[in-house]
Amino acid sequence: MSLENVVSGSREVTHVTPPMRVFDFDPAPYAKEFRAKGYVHIKGGVAPEFIEMVKERLEEYQRDRSQFLSDWEFKNKKQQYLFEFPEDNRLLREGMDTIAAVTGMAPDKVTLSERHIKVYAPNAHPNPPAHKDRFASRVAVGIPLFMPAESAVVLYPDQSREINGFDSSEDWRNSFAAADLPENVLKNVAPIKLYVGVGDVVMFLGSQIYHERINGAKAVALYLKFNDMRLDPLAEDPFMAMQRKASLARLAQITDHDLLDSALEVSPRLVRVSRHYTRNDWTEILMGQVAGEKSFPLSEDDVALLKRVRRGQKVRELLADAGIPEAKASECLATIRRLGEGGSIDILG
Ligand SMILES: [Fe+2]
Repeated sequence: MSLENVVSGSREVTHVTPPMRVFDFDPAPYAKEFRAKGYVHIKGGVAPEFIEMVKERLEEYQRDRSQFLSDWEFKNKKQQYLFEFPEDNRLLREGMDTIAAVTGMAPDKVTLSERHIKVYAPNAHPNPPAHKDRFASRVAVGIPLFMPAESAVVLYPDQSREINGFDSSEDWRNSFAAADLPENVLKNVAPIKLYVGVGDVVMFLGSQIYHERINGAKAVALYLKFNDMRLDPLAEDPFMAMQRKASLARLAQITDHDLLDSALEVSPRLVRVSRHYTRNDWTEILMGQVAGEKSFPLSEDDVALLKRVRRGQKVRELLADAGIPEAKASECLATIRRLGEGGSIDILG
Protein backbone atom coordinates (compact mmCIF):
# COMPACT_ATOMS: atom_id res chain seq x y z
CA MET A 1 0.00 0.00 0.00
CA SER A 2 1.42 3.40 -0.91
CA LEU A 3 0.73 6.62 0.88
CA GLU A 4 0.81 9.97 -0.85
CA ASN A 5 0.64 13.13 1.17
CA VAL A 6 -0.98 16.06 -0.56
CA VAL A 7 -1.05 19.45 1.07
CA SER A 8 -4.46 20.95 0.39
CA GLY A 9 -4.62 24.53 1.72
CA SER A 10 -3.59 24.27 5.34
CA ARG A 11 -4.82 20.66 5.60
CA GLU A 12 -2.67 17.60 4.84
CA VAL A 13 -4.73 14.89 3.09
CA THR A 14 -3.44 11.34 2.85
CA HIS A 15 -4.47 9.40 -0.27
CA VAL A 16 -4.21 5.65 0.14
CA THR A 17 -3.56 3.67 -3.05
CA PRO A 18 -4.91 0.14 -2.59
CA PRO A 19 -2.41 -2.65 -3.31
CA MET A 20 -2.50 -4.20 -6.77
CA ARG A 21 -4.73 -7.24 -7.13
CA VAL A 22 -4.77 -10.01 -9.74
CA PHE A 23 -8.55 -10.30 -9.84
CA ASP A 24 -11.41 -7.91 -9.42
CA PHE A 25 -14.58 -9.93 -8.77
CA ASP A 26 -16.51 -11.61 -5.98
CA PRO A 27 -15.76 -15.37 -6.20
CA ALA A 28 -18.95 -16.57 -4.42
CA PRO A 29 -21.38 -16.59 -7.39
CA TYR A 30 -18.83 -18.31 -9.64
CA ALA A 31 -18.01 -21.14 -7.18
CA LYS A 32 -21.39 -22.79 -7.77
CA GLU A 33 -20.98 -22.55 -11.55
CA PHE A 34 -17.48 -24.04 -11.43
CA ARG A 35 -18.65 -26.90 -9.21
CA ALA A 36 -21.47 -27.71 -11.64
CA LYS A 37 -19.62 -27.34 -14.95
CA GLY A 38 -15.89 -27.74 -14.24
CA TYR A 39 -15.15 -24.39 -15.90
CA VAL A 40 -16.07 -20.73 -15.66
CA HIS A 41 -15.56 -17.67 -17.87
CA ILE A 42 -15.50 -14.49 -15.78
CA LYS A 43 -15.89 -11.40 -17.93
CA GLY A 44 -13.90 -8.40 -16.72
CA GLY A 45 -12.56 -10.52 -13.84
CA VAL A 46 -8.93 -9.38 -14.05
CA ALA A 47 -7.68 -6.12 -12.56
CA PRO A 48 -6.52 -3.84 -15.44
CA GLU A 49 -3.36 -2.81 -13.57
CA PHE A 50 -2.36 -6.48 -13.27
CA ILE A 51 -2.66 -6.93 -17.04
CA GLU A 52 -0.56 -3.80 -17.60
CA MET A 53 2.12 -5.06 -15.23
CA VAL A 54 2.31 -8.50 -16.95
CA LYS A 55 2.50 -6.83 -20.38
CA GLU A 56 5.36 -4.60 -19.20
CA ARG A 57 7.20 -7.62 -17.85
CA LEU A 58 6.69 -9.52 -21.13
CA GLU A 59 8.14 -6.60 -23.12
CA GLU A 60 11.18 -6.71 -20.84
CA TYR A 61 11.52 -10.50 -21.25
CA GLN A 62 11.25 -10.24 -25.05
CA ARG A 63 13.77 -7.39 -25.15
CA ASP A 64 16.52 -9.14 -23.22
CA ARG A 65 15.37 -12.79 -23.76
CA SER A 66 15.33 -13.27 -19.98
CA GLN A 67 12.79 -15.77 -18.66
CA PHE A 68 12.63 -17.39 -22.13
CA LEU A 69 11.88 -21.10 -21.84
CA SER A 70 13.80 -22.59 -24.78
CA ASP A 71 12.86 -26.17 -23.82
CA TRP A 72 9.24 -25.17 -24.18
CA GLU A 73 9.49 -23.68 -27.64
CA PHE A 74 6.92 -25.59 -29.66
CA LYS A 75 8.10 -24.98 -33.21
CA ASN A 76 5.59 -22.93 -35.21
CA LYS A 77 3.21 -22.93 -32.30
CA LYS A 78 4.22 -20.78 -29.36
CA GLN A 79 7.04 -19.32 -27.33
CA GLN A 80 6.87 -19.36 -23.55
CA TYR A 81 8.29 -17.07 -20.90
CA LEU A 82 8.42 -17.78 -17.18
CA PHE A 83 6.37 -15.06 -15.47
CA GLU A 84 7.86 -13.71 -12.23
CA PHE A 85 5.42 -12.42 -9.63
CA PRO A 86 6.62 -9.36 -7.71
CA GLU A 87 9.10 -10.40 -5.09
CA ASP A 88 7.09 -10.45 -1.89
CA ASN A 89 4.58 -12.94 -3.42
CA ARG A 90 1.64 -11.16 -1.77
CA LEU A 91 0.00 -10.81 -5.18
CA LEU A 92 0.43 -14.51 -5.92
CA ARG A 93 -1.03 -15.48 -2.53
CA GLU A 94 -4.04 -13.23 -3.07
CA GLY A 95 -4.58 -14.72 -6.55
CA MET A 96 -4.32 -18.25 -5.10
CA ASP A 97 -6.97 -17.45 -2.47
CA THR A 98 -9.41 -16.17 -5.11
CA ILE A 99 -8.81 -19.19 -7.36
CA ALA A 100 -9.28 -21.53 -4.39
CA ALA A 101 -12.56 -19.78 -3.54
CA VAL A 102 -13.87 -20.26 -7.10
CA THR A 103 -12.64 -23.81 -7.71
CA GLY A 104 -13.10 -25.33 -4.25
CA MET A 105 -9.40 -26.19 -3.81
CA ALA A 106 -8.14 -26.26 -0.19
CA PRO A 107 -6.54 -22.78 0.24
CA ASP A 108 -3.79 -24.04 2.57
CA LYS A 109 -2.69 -26.66 0.03
CA VAL A 110 -2.91 -24.64 -3.19
CA THR A 111 0.31 -25.03 -5.17
CA LEU A 112 1.38 -23.27 -8.35
CA SER A 113 2.37 -25.86 -10.95
CA GLU A 114 2.99 -23.49 -13.89
CA ARG A 115 3.26 -19.74 -14.61
CA HIS A 116 4.00 -19.25 -18.30
CA ILE A 117 3.27 -16.40 -20.68
CA LYS A 118 2.49 -18.04 -24.02
CA VAL A 119 3.08 -16.14 -27.24
CA TYR A 120 1.44 -17.96 -30.16
CA ALA A 121 3.27 -17.79 -33.51
CA PRO A 122 1.58 -16.03 -36.49
CA ASN A 123 1.47 -19.44 -38.22
CA ALA A 124 0.21 -21.40 -35.20
CA HIS A 125 -2.04 -24.31 -36.20
CA PRO A 126 -5.64 -23.02 -36.19
CA ASN A 127 -7.13 -26.25 -34.89
CA PRO A 128 -4.67 -28.47 -32.99
CA PRO A 129 -5.86 -31.69 -31.30
CA ALA A 130 -7.34 -31.27 -27.83
CA HIS A 131 -5.32 -32.39 -24.81
CA LYS A 132 -5.41 -32.67 -21.03
CA ASP A 133 -2.78 -31.00 -18.86
CA ARG A 134 -0.34 -32.88 -16.64
CA PHE A 135 -1.62 -34.36 -13.34
CA ALA A 136 -0.34 -31.43 -11.24
CA SER A 137 -2.26 -28.90 -13.40
CA ARG A 138 -5.62 -29.66 -11.87
CA VAL A 139 -6.92 -26.15 -12.49
CA ALA A 140 -5.84 -24.05 -15.49
CA VAL A 141 -6.33 -20.29 -15.37
CA GLY A 142 -6.04 -18.29 -18.61
CA ILE A 143 -5.49 -14.54 -18.51
CA PRO A 144 -5.32 -13.05 -22.05
CA LEU A 145 -2.91 -10.17 -22.69
CA PHE A 146 -3.64 -9.86 -26.42
CA MET A 147 -6.41 -11.83 -28.06
CA PRO A 148 -7.48 -11.88 -31.72
CA ALA A 149 -11.28 -11.80 -31.99
CA GLU A 150 -11.44 -15.19 -33.75
CA SER A 151 -9.39 -17.05 -31.12
CA ALA A 152 -11.25 -19.20 -28.58
CA VAL A 153 -10.66 -21.73 -25.82
CA VAL A 154 -12.49 -24.92 -26.73
CA LEU A 155 -13.62 -27.31 -24.01
CA TYR A 156 -15.22 -30.77 -24.06
CA PRO A 157 -16.72 -30.94 -20.55
CA ASP A 158 -19.21 -33.69 -21.44
CA GLN A 159 -16.62 -36.11 -22.82
CA SER A 160 -14.21 -38.37 -20.89
CA ARG A 161 -13.37 -36.72 -17.56
CA GLU A 162 -10.71 -39.28 -16.68
CA ILE A 163 -7.83 -37.42 -15.01
CA ASN A 164 -4.45 -37.41 -16.79
CA GLY A 165 -2.34 -39.13 -14.14
CA PHE A 166 0.95 -38.62 -16.03
CA ASP A 167 3.40 -35.89 -15.19
CA SER A 168 3.26 -34.64 -18.78
CA SER A 169 0.57 -34.10 -21.36
CA GLU A 170 2.72 -35.85 -23.96
CA ASP A 171 3.29 -39.07 -21.96
CA TRP A 172 -0.44 -39.30 -21.43
CA ARG A 173 -1.09 -38.88 -25.16
CA ASN A 174 1.55 -41.51 -25.97
CA SER A 175 -0.29 -44.01 -23.77
CA PHE A 176 -3.25 -44.17 -26.18
CA ALA A 177 -3.87 -46.44 -29.16
CA ALA A 178 -4.51 -44.41 -32.33
CA ALA A 179 -8.28 -44.98 -32.22
CA ASP A 180 -8.45 -43.50 -28.72
CA LEU A 181 -6.52 -40.31 -29.50
CA PRO A 182 -8.61 -37.19 -28.81
CA GLU A 183 -8.69 -36.08 -32.47
CA ASN A 184 -10.40 -39.38 -33.29
CA VAL A 185 -12.64 -39.69 -30.24
CA LEU A 186 -13.80 -36.07 -30.44
CA LYS A 187 -14.04 -35.85 -34.24
CA ASN A 188 -17.82 -35.51 -34.31
CA VAL A 189 -18.27 -33.72 -31.00
CA ALA A 190 -19.04 -29.99 -30.96
CA PRO A 191 -16.98 -28.29 -28.23
CA ILE A 192 -17.97 -25.35 -26.08
CA LYS A 193 -16.17 -22.27 -27.42
CA LEU A 194 -15.24 -19.51 -25.00
CA TYR A 195 -14.18 -16.19 -26.47
CA VAL A 196 -12.14 -15.00 -23.52
CA GLY A 197 -11.06 -11.43 -24.20
CA VAL A 198 -8.46 -9.20 -22.56
CA GLY A 199 -9.73 -8.39 -19.06
CA ASP A 200 -11.55 -11.74 -18.77
CA VAL A 201 -10.33 -14.88 -17.03
CA VAL A 202 -11.14 -18.52 -17.75
CA MET A 203 -10.69 -21.29 -15.17
CA PHE A 204 -11.19 -24.98 -15.96
CA LEU A 205 -10.21 -28.47 -14.80
CA GLY A 206 -7.08 -28.75 -16.96
CA SER A 207 -6.04 -32.36 -16.19
CA GLN A 208 -9.63 -33.56 -16.48
CA ILE A 209 -11.37 -31.77 -19.39
CA TYR A 210 -10.15 -32.02 -22.99
CA HIS A 211 -9.27 -28.52 -24.17
CA GLU A 212 -7.26 -26.49 -26.68
CA ARG A 213 -6.96 -23.01 -28.14
CA ILE A 214 -8.25 -22.57 -31.69
CA ASN A 215 -7.20 -19.78 -34.08
CA GLY A 216 -4.38 -19.04 -31.66
CA ALA A 217 -2.17 -17.15 -34.15
CA LYS A 218 -0.72 -14.04 -32.45
CA ALA A 219 -2.61 -14.64 -29.20
CA VAL A 220 -0.72 -13.84 -25.98
CA ALA A 221 -1.90 -15.12 -22.61
CA LEU A 222 -0.61 -15.76 -19.12
CA TYR A 223 -1.46 -19.30 -18.03
CA LEU A 224 -1.34 -20.14 -14.36
CA LYS A 225 -1.89 -23.75 -13.32
CA PHE A 226 -2.66 -25.00 -9.81
CA ASN A 227 -3.42 -28.04 -7.69
CA ASP A 228 -4.20 -28.62 -4.04
CA MET A 229 -2.09 -31.78 -3.82
CA ARG A 230 1.17 -30.02 -2.96
CA LEU A 231 2.79 -30.84 -6.33
CA ASP A 232 5.31 -28.50 -7.96
CA PRO A 233 6.78 -30.63 -10.78
CA LEU A 234 8.31 -27.72 -12.74
CA ALA A 235 9.84 -26.00 -9.67
CA GLU A 236 7.84 -22.85 -10.40
CA ASP A 237 6.07 -22.28 -7.06
CA PRO A 238 8.12 -19.66 -5.15
CA PHE A 239 6.70 -20.81 -1.80
CA MET A 240 8.15 -24.26 -2.44
CA ALA A 241 11.55 -22.72 -3.20
CA MET A 242 11.37 -21.04 0.22
CA GLN A 243 10.40 -24.34 1.86
CA ARG A 244 13.34 -26.14 0.21
CA LYS A 245 15.81 -23.45 1.27
CA ALA A 246 14.56 -23.55 4.88
CA SER A 247 14.73 -27.35 4.86
CA LEU A 248 18.38 -27.35 3.77
CA ALA A 249 19.23 -24.75 6.43
CA ARG A 250 17.58 -26.90 9.13
CA LEU A 251 19.35 -30.05 7.97
CA ALA A 252 22.73 -28.32 8.09
CA GLN A 253 22.47 -27.62 11.81
CA ILE A 254 19.90 -29.94 13.37
CA THR A 255 20.94 -32.69 15.81
CA ASP A 256 19.50 -36.19 15.49
CA HIS A 257 17.60 -35.58 18.72
CA ASP A 258 15.86 -32.49 17.29
CA LEU A 259 15.33 -34.17 13.93
CA LEU A 260 13.15 -36.75 15.70
CA ASP A 261 10.73 -33.96 16.63
CA SER A 262 10.74 -32.32 13.20
CA ALA A 263 7.85 -32.58 10.78
CA LEU A 264 8.32 -33.84 7.23
CA GLU A 265 6.79 -33.72 3.80
CA VAL A 266 7.68 -35.59 0.62
CA SER A 267 9.02 -32.72 -1.49
CA PRO A 268 6.39 -31.17 -3.77
CA ARG A 269 9.24 -31.03 -6.29
CA LEU A 270 9.79 -34.81 -6.35
CA VAL A 271 8.37 -35.42 -9.82
CA ARG A 272 8.51 -39.20 -9.96
CA VAL A 273 10.16 -42.41 -8.88
CA SER A 274 10.76 -44.72 -11.81
CA ARG A 275 11.80 -48.33 -12.18
CA HIS A 276 13.52 -49.44 -15.33
CA TYR A 277 15.53 -52.38 -16.68
CA THR A 278 18.91 -52.19 -18.37
CA ARG A 279 19.35 -53.89 -21.74
CA ASN A 280 22.59 -55.72 -20.94
CA ASP A 281 21.19 -58.02 -18.22
CA TRP A 282 17.75 -56.55 -17.36
CA THR A 283 19.07 -55.19 -14.06
CA GLU A 284 16.26 -53.41 -12.26
CA ILE A 285 17.04 -49.79 -11.41
CA LEU A 286 15.14 -47.36 -9.19
CA MET A 287 15.61 -43.65 -9.87
CA GLY A 288 14.14 -40.49 -8.40
CA GLN A 289 13.65 -37.19 -10.23
CA VAL A 290 13.43 -33.82 -8.49
CA ALA A 291 12.27 -30.93 -10.71
CA GLY A 292 15.16 -29.10 -12.34
CA GLU A 293 17.82 -31.45 -10.94
CA LYS A 294 19.70 -34.56 -12.08
CA SER A 295 18.01 -37.92 -11.47
CA PHE A 296 19.44 -39.96 -8.60
CA PRO A 297 19.41 -43.63 -7.48
CA LEU A 298 17.05 -44.83 -4.77
CA SER A 299 16.92 -48.11 -2.84
CA GLU A 300 13.77 -50.13 -2.21
CA ASP A 301 13.98 -49.01 1.46
CA ASP A 302 14.19 -45.35 0.39
CA VAL A 303 11.02 -45.71 -1.67
CA ALA A 304 9.22 -47.60 1.12
CA LEU A 305 10.05 -44.71 3.45
CA LEU A 306 8.95 -42.03 0.97
CA LYS A 307 5.62 -43.80 0.48
CA ARG A 308 5.05 -43.79 4.23
CA VAL A 309 5.65 -40.06 4.86
CA ARG A 310 2.53 -37.99 5.56
CA ARG A 311 2.72 -34.21 5.39
CA GLY A 312 3.30 -32.68 8.84
CA GLN A 313 4.14 -36.04 10.41
CA LYS A 314 7.02 -35.98 12.89
CA VAL A 315 10.03 -38.23 12.29
CA ARG A 316 9.33 -39.90 15.64
CA GLU A 317 5.80 -40.79 14.44
CA LEU A 318 7.14 -42.03 11.11
CA LEU A 319 9.51 -44.42 12.94
CA ALA A 320 6.68 -45.70 15.15
CA ASP A 321 4.51 -46.15 12.07
CA ALA A 322 7.28 -48.19 10.41
CA GLY A 323 7.81 -50.27 13.58
CA ILE A 324 11.37 -48.99 14.12
CA PRO A 325 12.31 -48.57 17.82
CA GLU A 326 13.99 -45.25 18.63
CA ALA A 327 17.07 -47.12 19.84
CA LYS A 328 17.56 -48.30 16.25
CA ALA A 329 16.62 -45.02 14.64
CA SER A 330 20.07 -43.82 13.57
CA GLU A 331 20.04 -45.62 10.20
CA CYS A 332 16.61 -44.21 9.38
CA LEU A 333 17.67 -40.71 10.43
CA ALA A 334 20.67 -40.96 8.12
CA THR A 335 18.31 -41.94 5.27
CA ILE A 336 16.06 -38.96 6.01
CA ARG A 337 19.07 -36.63 6.00
CA ARG A 338 20.27 -38.04 2.68
CA LEU A 339 16.83 -37.79 1.06
CA GLY A 340 16.40 -34.31 2.54
CA GLU A 341 19.71 -33.09 1.15
CA GLY A 342 18.91 -34.64 -2.24
CA GLY A 343 15.58 -32.83 -2.36
CA SER A 344 13.04 -35.64 -2.18
CA ILE A 345 12.05 -34.86 1.45
CA ASP A 346 11.56 -31.44 3.06
CA ILE A 347 12.09 -30.91 6.80
CA LEU A 348 9.34 -28.52 7.87
CA GLY A 349 10.62 -27.78 11.38
FE1 LIG B 1 -3.57 -27.23 -21.68
